[in-house]
Amino acid sequence: MTEISFVKQRITAARSLTVLSGAGISAESGVPTFRGPGGLWKNHRAEELATPEAFQRDPILVWSWYQWRRKLLSTKAPNPAHTALVSLESAVEHFTLITQNVDGLHQSAGSRTVITLHGDIWKVRCTGCDRVFEETSLNLPALPRCPVCERLLRPHIVWFGEEIDAKKLSLAIDACHSCEVMLVIGTSAIVQPAASFASLAKEAGALIVEINPNPALHDCADVSLTGTAAEIVPQLL
Ligand code: APR
Repeated sequence: MTEISFVKQRITAARSLTVLSGAGISAESGVPTFRGPGGLWKNHRAEELATPEAFQRDPILVWSWYQWRRKLLSTKAPNPAHTALVSLESAVEHFTLITQNVDGLHQSAGSRTVITLHGDIWKVRCTGCDRVFEETSLNLPALPRCPVCERLLRPHIVWFGEEIDAKKLSLAIDACHSCEVMLVIGTSAIVQPAASFASLAKEAGALIVEINPNPALHDCADVSLTGTAAEIVPQLL
């Protein structure tokens, strides 16, 4: 039996499946990953720009990076890996998708239960009144203002050093504890707390399946399907 047919069999038998995705699942949609080639922007790394300090120091620079990313993402579409997860969602009784991605590609592919652990690049939040708005305009002013209280808006994204939304985190941890199979797709498993989700699920007895051309989970993965997401995930249906 091939590794893929073994995984398919386990998914078919599973009543609960949890998926953790990272930037790698969007790579074949043409979205640069963070730590791979193309992860740079005007010689800045995400680590320097996606921080509250950077926004405090130079909100125009940070906003121009997000405007650049929004413009880039507006030209990208979900790939077969995103769409395969939509089919998996309807095939499994209890399905949870936890994504570290903010690109919205899972949602536009049709995934319904998406825990956007690191936020959503298509939402903004007021630094004054904390309101959150859907905002898909590609022509925002350099420093967008809240339509209600007129204070500065920021991307509704979890920056380095910031806390993850407590409700999202507890839902994600529950999904790690309750799944029989976890698929870990396209993440370097460096950034916490997502980097620990696979070991949480493993401790709770789940089968851990990694899909990544450069495996990152090492001995935590029970099965390592070394290939790209768009090539492998559709084979798991
Ligand atoms: N298919 C599957 N995996 C791929 C593909 C592909 N086509 N191409 C690259 N990968 C893998 C890489 O091998 C790498 O392990 O995707 C992973 C991308 O890693 P990162 O760029 O570190 O992205 P990610 O793990 O999602 O980063 C986590 O860090 O910058 C922060 O908040 C940001 O959510 C992000 C977090």
